[in-house]
This record gives sequence, structure tokens and C-alpha cells, in this order.
Amino acid sequence: MLDLGNPLRCFFTQQVFLIGTRNEDGIAHFAPISWISYTYGEPPCLVVSMKIKKKTFENIRRSGLFSATVLTPDLLTFAECCNNATRNENLYQKVCPELESGKALDVPLISGAKWSYECEVIKTVEFGESVTFFAQIRHINIAAELMNLNWFDLKVINPVVYSPGNYFTIGEHLGKIGDFSKESARAEQKQDILCRKATADDIEKIVQIDLTLKREQICKAVLQEECYIAEDGDQIIGFAIMSFSFFNYGFIELLIIAEEHRRRGMGAALLDYLFWQCKTEKLFTSTNESNTPMRELLAKSGFIPCGQIDALDEGDPELFFVRKKAAR
Ligand SMILES: Cc1cc2nc3c(=O)[nH]c(=O)nc-3n(C[C@H](O)[C@H](O)[C@H](O)COP(=O)(O)O)c2cc1C
Repeated sequence: MLDLGNPLRCFFTQQVFLIGTRNEDGIAHFAPISWISYTYGEPPCLVVSMKIKKKTFENIRRSGLFSATVLTPDLLTFAECCNNATRNENLYQKVCPELESGKALDVPLISGAKWSYECEVIKTVEFGESVTFFAQIRHINIAAELMNLNWFDLKVINPVVYSPGNYFTIGEHLGKIGDFSKESARAEQKQDILCRKATADDIEKIVQIDLTLKREQICKAVLQEECYIAEDGDQIIGFAIMSFSFFNYGFIELLIIAEEHRRRGMGAALLDYLFWQCKTEKLFTSTNESNTPMRELLAKSGFIPCGQIDALDEGDPELFFVRKKAAR
């Protein structure tokens, strides 16, 4: 192991929050802060650390209140303008977002932000050059598009990830808790899967996946570069067709995983791949109401219901689903 030497800037991975406070005159003040954690129990608290010599510290000490807004890429310019080290007053005036007051506490909130907490300090610990506030979460404000999430989909929330000096965004969704223990064998198999666009050489193998398929449909999709496959070694185990003729949005017309490879997370892997290949900010698909496995797969993969057509298959409505990319 390497010896890092100076442990002062050794802590990663961090999430950044914009901490909102009020100056003595009531004016809103924001600062990006990444030394943040959480304590579980009654009351649930955010744990926020900062250096003592800060306006933000003074404001919190005086009022006992602050807001904490999840930093997303669209707020980075504003965040940098709030940081003493990179402050740019002209730019600040231009990019300062619309603000509003908290719902439970008198703290400044960023209108339209994805996620923000309103907090009240219940314990303060001073140690070294830092002060740490344990602050009760009194209210959580969530953007409308996050209300329907089945789980905390970080690709939709899109928080900025920080390691000292550098900003990142979230990478791939690796799986759910339990995927790598109880079903470790499956998880390993899933990692060997490669998804890619199909070429003419793949057509024969694709057709073999489901013998009811029309060869012309596959050929046309491959030719139009709308056919995608999941392969395990040299075996094609699933494929999908994604076109862009649905109101100019990405639309998954077909997704089939070979019978013997189902229930291994392959469908989810291919759906995820399509989602990240899709250039439009919304990806749509549809399935019959009677197709429970597909509906479950879509729900697991972050697709939410967005309408239905009853007149296609009588007595078995076609249900439509959408998965949206986070605003950048
Ligand atoms: C991404 C990022 C994360 C930061 N995290 C912290 C932090 O956790 N604690 C801290 O004391 N300062 C942190 N800073 C520095 C403060 O944001 C900066 O000193 C800011 O100007 C706050 O000071 P003020 O309250 O006096 O305006 C961070 C800066 C950036 C850009």
C-alpha cells in the first residue's frame, strides 16, 4: 500500500450540499459543503462539518437553522460562485437561482432543486479547526419528478459526487442490495454480459432467440442501426429494438431475452444499456397489461407508467411506460 502522507485531504467519496443560511439582515447565503453525514433514530439528523471561520458557521450559530440542497450539475456554477476560493460576483448575479423560503423553517431554498432538507441544530461539537452540527431534519422538499421513484435512483436524482478538487457524476447502477450475496453467481454472470449495437453478422443468431420472429423485422432494425444485443461470450442471449419514431423520442419496440437466460438480470442490463444509449431525454416503451414479467422488469429498471391504449388488444390494454433522464 502507498503511504499517502498528509491525511488532511484524504477523505472521499463525498456528496456536496449547498448549505443555505440567512445573514443578520435576512439575506440568503449559500456555501457548498461536502463533509456531511446522517444519524438514524429519533430525531433523524444531518451531520454537517465545516471550518469554524465561515459566514455559514456564524449564521448557523446565530439562528440554529439551515437548508441543505443536493448539489446537481445544473447548480455547479452557482455553487462555485458561492465558494470564497472561486467566487465571481458578476457571474453570481447572473446564475443565482430563484429562491424561496422553507416550508417548516425560515431558511432559504433553491426553487426547483431536486432535493433539499430544512434542518434545525440540536447539538454542536467543536473539535480541531472544525465545528460539527447535528441538525434535526424538519422538512424535506422533493422535485415532482422524484415523487414517483420506486427507489432512490441516483441516475435520476443525479447528485454531484466529489473527491477533493474534482467533481463527478454517478456511474452505472450495479444492482440492488442482496444481488451480490444470495444470488452472487447470477451477479457474476451479469458482469460478463456485453451489450452493443447489432451488426449484419448477428442476424442469424438473433433470429434463433425466438423462432416466431420475422427475419425482415430484424434485418430492417439492424440496417437502421436500431437493433441492440446482449451477449455472453459468443452467445447472443437477448436483443432489443429501439427506434426514434415515437414523437421523436426513443421507443423500445421489442425486448426479448432467450428463455433459458431469463430471471438473471439480463433484461434489466439491456434496458439500462438502451437507456444510456438513448439520445432523447425520455425513453418510452409499452407492453400488454397481461405481461406481468415485463411490467415488473420495467418497474425495477426505473420506468414509470405514463398512459394506456385500450383499443389495440381487446380486453388487454397496452400500457405505456417512460424513463426520464435527469436534467443536466
Ligand atoms: C465542493 C466543495 C465542497 C466543500 N466542502 C466544504 C466542507 O465540507 N467544509 C468546509 O468547511 N468547507 C467546504 N468547502 C469550502 C466552502 O464552501 C467555502 O469556504 C465557502 O466559501 C463557505 O464559506 P462562507 O460560509 O464563509 O461563505 C467546500 C467547497 C467546495 C467547492
